[in-house]
Amino acid sequence: MSTSQDTRGETLADPPVHVAIIMDGNGRWAEERGLTRPEGHAAGLDNIRRIVRFFAGRGVKYLTLFAFSTENWERPNDEVESLIGLLGQALRDETLPLHEEGIRINHLGRLDRLPDALRRAIRESVELTRHNDRMTLSVAYDYGSRSEIVNAVRAIVADGLLPHSISEEVMARYLYTSCLPDPDLVVRTGGEMRLSNFLLWQAAYAEFYSASAWWPDFDEAEAAKALDAYSRRRRRYGRLAPGETRGNR
Ligand code: IPE
Ligand code: IPE
Ligand code: MG
Repeated sequence: MSTSQDTRGETLADPPVHVAIIMDGNGRWAEERGLTRPEGHAAGLDNIRRIVRFFAGRGVKYLTLFAFSTENWERPNDEVESLIGLLGQALRDETLPLHEEGIRINHLGRLDRLPDALRRAIRESVELTRHNDRMTLSVAYDYGSRSEIVNAVRAIVADGLLPHSISEEVMARYLYTSCLPDPDLVVRTGGEMRLSNFLLWQAAYAEFYSASAWWPDFDEAEAAKALDAYSRRRRRYGRLAPGETRGNR
């Protein structure tokens, strides 16, 4: 269990190994400035650059960013097109700098509904960076937890697994996140208090942190506040923390 004790004997969380972020609020950020929603998403992409560097600098080994959900296809066409275009731009402009910084790029989600060129670009970035080990940056794109779980169950059935051989570990191996540890901290920007179909299985015991800042405004100081809040959490996993057992006589 990832905990340690401070001088008062309090059980505190160790620094998170895996931070996952629901990057929300680009549209409202743009609206406040009289800009278009696609301009808000472009500002959101700029923010990804600094936040990736911030968490890598703080020693976080896995950073997962929710960029496009299976439900986001239902937005107006021009907004969907701008989001698809931005992923292509990010892969073109950022893959080499990330590679040089030792960052591995990983994709979570469906690939079959993306344009061919984007699918190829994702595969190339993943392939180029696969041996990097400073930090794994997973981009959840056309990702939805329920679809991921349905996909896993289909694959389990197709592989002919028998009921008694299916365990939580087997399930986890069939999810897109099979190569990632569960997230320790899930951050949502934009003030909402919901998961919106993000990592429902994997976040079972994650600590949740909601920041009121829109995603483009979520800077290093905001990210440091999230880590600070996390460091004061007591993770129990359904058990009692050391020092909490005294009433049991
Ligand atoms: C997050 O910002 C980006 C995506 C969901 C793709 P939003 O576009 O959801 O911004 P708000 O929530 O409307 O402000
Ligand atoms: C969640 O944000 C998805 C991403 C950040 C990619 P949404 O803006 O789509 O979520 P809802 O609609 O407010 O729940
Ligand atoms: Mg939103």
